[in-house]
Amino acid sequence: MQNNIDKKSLENAYRLFESGDINHIKTGTTKGLQQLHKYLFDGLYDFAGKIRAQNISKGGFRFATVLYLNEILAKIELMPENTFEEIIAKYVEMNIAHPFMEGNGRTMRIWLDMILKASLKKLVNWQFVDKTLYLQAVERSPVNDLELRTLLFAHLTDEVDNREIIFKGIEQSYYYEGYTKEDDDL
Ligand SMILES: Nc1ncnc2c1ncn2[C@@H]1O[C@H](COP(=O)(O)OP(=O)(O)O)[C@@H](O)[C@H]1O
Ligand SMILES: [Mg+2]
Repeated sequence: MQNNIDKKSLENAYRLFESGDINHIKTGTTKGLQQLHKYLFDGLYDFAGKIRAQNISKGGFRFATVLYLNEILAKIELMPENTFEEIIAKYVEMNIAHPFMEGNGRTMRIWLDMILKASLKKLVNWQFVDKTLYLQAVERSPVNDLELRTLLFAHLTDEVDNREIIFKGIEQSYYYEGYTKEDDDL
C-alpha cells in the first residue's frame, strides 16, 4: 500500500519536470512548497498540500509545534537566499518546521533545488550524495549545519537542465525515504 503510494508519487515527480509544470511553482516560499507537495501527493494523501495540525517527531527530534507553525513558516519565507550558506540555512529551518504529516523530505529537496537553480544556477547532484551520510547530516543540522553544507557543496552541479541528473536525483530522493523502483520488480 505504502509502496503503491510511493510509486505513484514518483511518477508525479517525473511528470512535474517532464511537463514543465515545475516552472509554474513559486520559488523559496511556503506556498511553493505546498504546491510541490500537492503535486507529488494529490489523490494519494488527503493532506496533500496541507499544513499539518498535529505535532510530529522523528528519531527523537520534535519538529516545530503546530501552535507556532504558521508564524515560523512566514519567517522562513523571508530568509535570504543569496549565498549557498544562506540557502542551506533556509532549507534547514524548513526541515525543522516539517510542515506536512509525511512527504517533507522529498518535497523539500525539490524546493531546495529550485532555490539553488534560481539563485546560483546550480543543483545538487543527489545521485552521488550517499544516503547514510545525508540522513546523518540532516539529523545533525538543527544543531549545526556544517556537515550538511559540506556534503551538499561537494555535489553541486552546473548542469541544471540535464534531464538525467534531474531524474536520477529524484530517484535518489525517493530511495532516501525507503522506496526504489526495483521494489516493484520483485
Ligand atoms: N532526526 C531527524 N531530525 C531532523 N530531520 C530529520 C530527521 N530524520 C529525518 N529527517 C528529515 O526528514 C525527512 C523525512 O521526512 P518525511 O516527512 O518522512 O518525508 P518523506 O515522506 O519524503 O520521507 C528526511 O529526508 C530528512 O530530511
Ligand atoms: Mg516519510
